[in-house]
Amino acid sequence: MCGIVGYVGPGSSLEVLLGGLKRLEYRGYDSAGVAVLSPEGAIGSRKRAGKLGVLVDDLSASPIADGGTGIGHTRWATHGGPTDGNAHPHFGDDGRLALIHNGIIENFAELKAELLEAGEQFESETDTEVAALLVGRAFRETGDLTEAMRRTVERLDGAFTLLALHQDAPGVVVGARRSSPLVIGLGEGENFLGSDVAAFVEHTRRAMEIGQDQIVTIRPDSVEVIDFAGNPAEASEFEVAWDASAAEKGGWPSFMKKEIDEEPDAVANTLLGRVHDGATALTELDAVADILTDIDRVLVLGCGTAAYAGLVGKYAIEAWARIPVDVELSHEFRYRDPVLNERTLVVSVSQSGETMDTLMAVRYAREQGARTLSICNTQGATIPRESDAVLYTHAGPEVAVASTKAFVAQVTALYLLGLHLASLRGTLDAEGVAAQLAELEAVPGKIRTVVDSASARIAELAHWMSDTQSVLFLGRHVGYPVALEGALKLKELAYIHAEGFAAGELKHGPIALIEPGQIVFVVVPSPRDPSSLHKKVVSNIQEIRARGARVIAIAELGDVAVVPYADEVIRIPLAAPLFEPLLAVVPLHVFGMELATAKGLDVDQPRNLAKSVTVE
Ligand code: G6P
Repeated sequence: MCGIVGYVGPGSSLEVLLGGLKRLEYRGYDSAGVAVLSPEGAIGSRKRAGKLGVLVDDLSASPIADGGTGIGHTRWATHGGPTDGNAHPHFGDDGRLALIHNGIIENFAELKAELLEAGEQFESETDTEVAALLVGRAFRETGDLTEAMRRTVERLDGAFTLLALHQDAPGVVVGARRSSPLVIGLGEGENFLGSDVAAFVEHTRRAMEIGQDQIVTIRPDSVEVIDFAGNPAEASEFEVAWDASAAEKGGWPSFMKKEIDEEPDAVANTLLGRVHDGATALTELDAVADILTDIDRVLVLGCGTAAYAGLVGKYAIEAWARIPVDVELSHEFRYRDPVLNERTLVVSVSQSGETMDTLMAVRYAREQGARTLSICNTQGATIPRESDAVLYTHAGPEVAVASTKAFVAQVTALYLLGLHLASLRGTLDAEGVAAQLAELEAVPGKIRTVVDSASARIAELAHWMSDTQSVLFLGRHVGYPVALEGALKLKELAYIHAEGFAAGELKHGPIALIEPGQIVFVVVPSPRDPSSLHKKVVSNIQEIRARGARVIAIAELGDVAVVPYADEVIRIPLAAPLFEPLLAVVPLHVFGMELATAKGLDVDQPRNLAKSVTVE
């Protein structure tokens, strides 16, 4: 929520800021703004409600003088509606200081009352403006932007990243963070700040992560980090694993279409280097290796798509490693006095690594003595930084707000974890592990087949259904989380009422929703599975068809049993039953995207959502 960019250097700061904001726009897109220092050292600022394009047009119609020091912001509104006035930057010290913010300042009402009492005037309804005024007042006292920021953050409660510049401090941008993201980009004679590396990867792949409660001061030739008490702090450098072209649309009509097309690579790259001679090679888990044989429980935490990936992981890890696995939404877990201890391995799943609900849940789990493993797609993010170990998914940058390729990469990482635990704990022998890994390594090619073979037909179906009001999704066993994910995608992208159900639950309520014409997607288990689930789900299809449902079955090649009962069958290649989610989910991702497209909606930036939800 909210994207932040800062720049100091010889280049055009506006070019850097607007380029960075474009890449960060997935974080919020209800308004955008910039502040830059002119070559003469005066602040120039522009901010506009609406998507970034509105600001860009405005700046090209009437440019502002730009001297190579600037900050930029793209907003997802929390306090105060999405208006020009509430857009960032906000100002302090009689307009001599500009400040941008991501997060929520929880004690802003008390601070506002105090500032009003002291004679300050407010121009906006935001919580941010108190920080701008406080830094401005502290600058007046100290003449030092870093110290002014330090004195201010000491007084703030809540979560925040703040960036500020002052016209009496040319060539300086100061940033501070508590529980909200901020990374540093290291250039030659120029430096950058950003909510994530996408903000500056076009200019440099050298980055630094900074810790909680730290303040960074960038100048063209220096980067200094201190903690909130003013002591020098260490920041660790890393190389960004992808280049700017990976976060470009590159001729695709939308990021989402591109990212669905990248699902095979997301799986393949997450496996890369982690399978050797038929065994898992997960050196990343060394930091928790001492407990992996002793844990008596795995608890998976996540939100949205990440939680559904966790649910797939539960089936696989329990089947292979014979450890109880619970999956919980991070926000529910954190506030219900959960029971866990040092024999619990807490696995957080998060594409961004910044989701506040998940971050708070991980912190809580650590306080309770649990060991934590982060499955994350974003280098330098807060959750992996605060976890004992991290297993990065290598899906590449995911820009579309709704997750697609990150889901298959997360599921893959959980499979690797499950097989790793199974071999450590001896619940699968070496041959068993090797057989599963061989199956898993064959999955990317099969996903490619689904993307290439099913997309056109799904697009046709979606276009026919563009005025539909409600779609249901049924699945069983690992097909159940896939049904949940299919429904979530449709809600997020096409704004259609959609529900995912466990097929076994049908008769316990959801069947009452079936009326003539109701569209139901059914994820059909493999008929090769020794359990009788395939037959049961085919019976479910008959039950809903008898009540008028229009059934679209996702079924494996050669499954003829579904043909008489389904209106449409989307085929997926044969895979071991536990790996089917990686294939069955793809048509549902395509369906959500195509239905939204058919309705003329923006599939990359759905209304009201933001990709990285950095407030609770
Ligand atoms: C938001 C996004 C979802 C995503 C969820 C979790 O709600 O809109 O697409 O699944 O956050 O995000 P994370 O970065 O933690 O995976």
